[in-house]
Amino acid sequence: MEHTKPSYYITTPIYYVNAKPHLGTAYCTVMADVQARFQRACGCDVKFLTGMDEHGEKVAEAAEKNGFDSPQAWCDSMEPAFRDLWKTLNISNDDFIRTTQPRHVAGVQKFLKTLLDRGYIYKDAYDGWYCRPDETYFTETQVHHHEEERLAAGEAPADPEHPLCPDCDRPLERIQEESWFFKLSEFQQPLLDFYEAHPDFIQPETRRNEVLSFVKGGLKDLSISRSTFDWGVPFPFDEKHVAYVWVDALINYLSAVGYGAEGEDAADELAYRWPAQVHVVGKDIIRFHCVIWPALLMAAGLPLPERVFVHGFLTVRNEETGKIEKMSKSRGNAIAPEEVIDLLGVDAYRYYFMSDVVHGTDAPISWGRMRQVYNADLANSWGNLVSRTLNMSAKYFDGCAPARPASFDEPSPLRDACRGIFERYAERMKAMDYGGAASEVLSIVSAANHYIEDMAPWALAKDPEKADELALVIWNLLEVIRIASELYDPFMPSISAEVRRRLSLATEPTADLASACAWGGLAGGAPVEKGDPLFPRLVD
Ligand code: MSP
Repeated sequence: MEHTKPSYYITTPIYYVNAKPHLGTAYCTVMADVQARFQRACGCDVKFLTGMDEHGEKVAEAAEKNGFDSPQAWCDSMEPAFRDLWKTLNISNDDFIRTTQPRHVAGVQKFLKTLLDRGYIYKDAYDGWYCRPDETYFTETQVHHHEEERLAAGEAPADPEHPLCPDCDRPLERIQEESWFFKLSEFQQPLLDFYEAHPDFIQPETRRNEVLSFVKGGLKDLSISRSTFDWGVPFPFDEKHVAYVWVDALINYLSAVGYGAEGEDAADELAYRWPAQVHVVGKDIIRFHCVIWPALLMAAGLPLPERVFVHGFLTVRNEETGKIEKMSKSRGNAIAPEEVIDLLGVDAYRYYFMSDVVHGTDAPISWGRMRQVYNADLANSWGNLVSRTLNMSAKYFDGCAPARPASFDEPSPLRDACRGIFERYAERMKAMDYGGAASEVLSIVSAANHYIEDMAPWALAKDPEKADELALVIWNLLEVIRIASELYDPFMPSISAEVRRRLSLATEPTADLASACAWGGLAGGAPVEKGDPLFPRLVD
């Protein structure tokens, strides 16, 4: 197949099925969606993947606890919660992978066979600490180090039989089992060389430094199989073992683009899509994505993704302890996305989390701040500009936009404000600095609101000699609205389409954003519709 556009392949983590999605998990998906929409607007052929992580002991246990006949039935029952929320939030994913799908199982088995053939896995006895909730092994040193840190922080000593998990602080168990190991220890230098040659591989910089110091501290071989339960992908050459859930899960990024499938089409898709342009992940799963995954790919002889973008957590204050905690289902402090959607609506929900929460650092969520951002940026600035301008246009020009005036390209405050807007915005979008990108758009919106005050179109409308000037002023304003609707589209796809509809423009977002942002695109003369307020003001 011939591909005329560049591929842009973007992924979210695949979510554990045991908990319904909450604000925190949705945050990650919306972040990837904004990038996917932006890249489509820049002319890329985007593949945006999300999905569900369905294997592992915890899932099998949950199925039983919830009275399901099989883990598969339990996973199936959870699927709508994800699909429905993504639909509600206007997530534009092109694919939805589930690790129980045959295409994925085939991908995992091919990968394991490749590791075996290339000599990167071996069977051995394992004796060490295991965190059952996280399904992760820890070395003696890691566990010891964590205990020392806890004691230094003044916490009570843990039970030596069950020291606490370095990741989640829950009690560990001592485990002895036979396991397949991946020779992760051989990849310390290749990984360090790779990070050095690709300084943008891990973003933001603070996360990159974290990974570098972790890898410099040395890598141990990784247990990648389990034989104490069977809810997983069987090793094709050792049926007693199923793949460790993390190795299984990471391979989804490949099995979704043809890896493991037979035939020319699959090979073509893999060549076109892989390596991915970016994996968007939360900071808790950085080692899996920035250390283990690249090492596995190197071992399999496959190219590495271009970038891993790491975001922080949405946090909430624990009323009892006063501590700031990660929002999570297991902590019982998760806010359901529906609650926020009820308050803000979908587009403003997306706008708030994407523009106000600095990606990369942790962010406390507050209802007060949501209201503030909504009222300032959306009700008073963007919504107000659209409503005032469309209202005046319809009133002064017989229900239409004025035709593009001959002098449209002469220097004017709004034309100047929009000069270079695409470049400024695109640079920030590519860096996932959505707050920066949104404030670029807000700057032209605010310039237009000031322009209304300065030009006082209502005064011009009273003077028949000022008819041309009035037409130019209204056209300038509508032109800013047209441009802003394209730039806001990745954040607020429904409202942006609605704004374009009210202007009698194509509601589909552009696939050539650079050209769409060029001054002069609005022909004018077509009907405009005032419509209801886009963002009715919120009161306390
Ligand atoms: N199944 C693994 C990922 C496998 S990817 C090959 C997993 N699933 S998860 O459901 O626990 O988390 C998925 C993502 O949601 C992670 O990136 C995690 O950081 C993110 N979030 C979960 N809670 C969050 C917040 N409170 N805030 C922001 N993101 C959070 O890990």
